[in-house]
Amino acid sequence: MDLFDAIAQRTSIRRFKDQPVPEEDIRRILDAGRLAPSANNTQPWSFLVLRDKALLANMAEAVRQQVDRMLPFAENEKQAQRLAAYKSNYYTFFEKAPVVIAAFMEAYDASANQLLARMGYSAEDIARLRPNPGLQSVAAAIEHMLLAAHALGYGSCWMTGPLVAQEAFEKILGYGREKFIAALLPLGVPDEKASSKPRKSLTEISRTVG
Ligand SMILES: Cc1cc2nc3c(=O)[nH]c(=O)nc-3n(C[C@H](O)[C@H](O)[C@H](O)COP(=O)(O)O)c2cc1C
Repeated sequence: MDLFDAIAQRTSIRRFKDQPVPEEDIRRILDAGRLAPSANNTQPWSFLVLRDKALLANMAEAVRQQVDRMLPFAENEKQAQRLAAYKSNYYTFFEKAPVVIAAFMEAYDASANQLLARMGYSAEDIARLRPNPGLQSVAAAIEHMLLAAHALGYGSCWMTGPLVAQEAFEKILGYGREKFIAALLPLGVPDEKASSKPRKSLTEISRTVG
């Protein structure tokens, strides 16, 4: 598939057919993530392939429980309703996918940041000057995987909503504070029509200087 076609046609898919995804296709998708650019070629990522239905149900249940804890803090009825909708779908549909890839952000040692800190820049200043190169690297890997999945005929969705339950995921999947899940990518044969979301125009978001 032509790269520009893949970019133009990819949409988030949230419903999947009950059809397995062959190992070889998962491997090709992971490999597309592996080949992404990264800050200083540090490749600060790792990928966990989740197929176990009970485990995914456990994770989704942890998300629902966390949303329940969040609900009393909603500012108004509208926000509460939106959260309730997230609980039943937007944050939890991953449990119905045949495969979910958890994209981890591993420890990232930014030596330039350490130098800036020694020069007296605050953590806040450094975050503004160099906004999280490690996480930007993981994001590149995630987008590579979404495009690869699309090119192979699968649907997926970049999900950070479920990460409200990251602390529960640490326990369920057995990882510590040294790394964290940057996104979940449910993966499967689409069971819904692609529907393109509107985008801002190029004139609105770009300009040329000089
Ligand atoms: C960082 C990030 C986090 C997202 N988190 C979620 C999520 O938790 N649940 C979900 O259903 N969609 C999630 N999305 C998908 C967006 O809603 C979607 O990309 C956007 O509406 C544009 O639609 P499209 O992907 O179909 O072009 C996320 C996308 C990004 C980039």
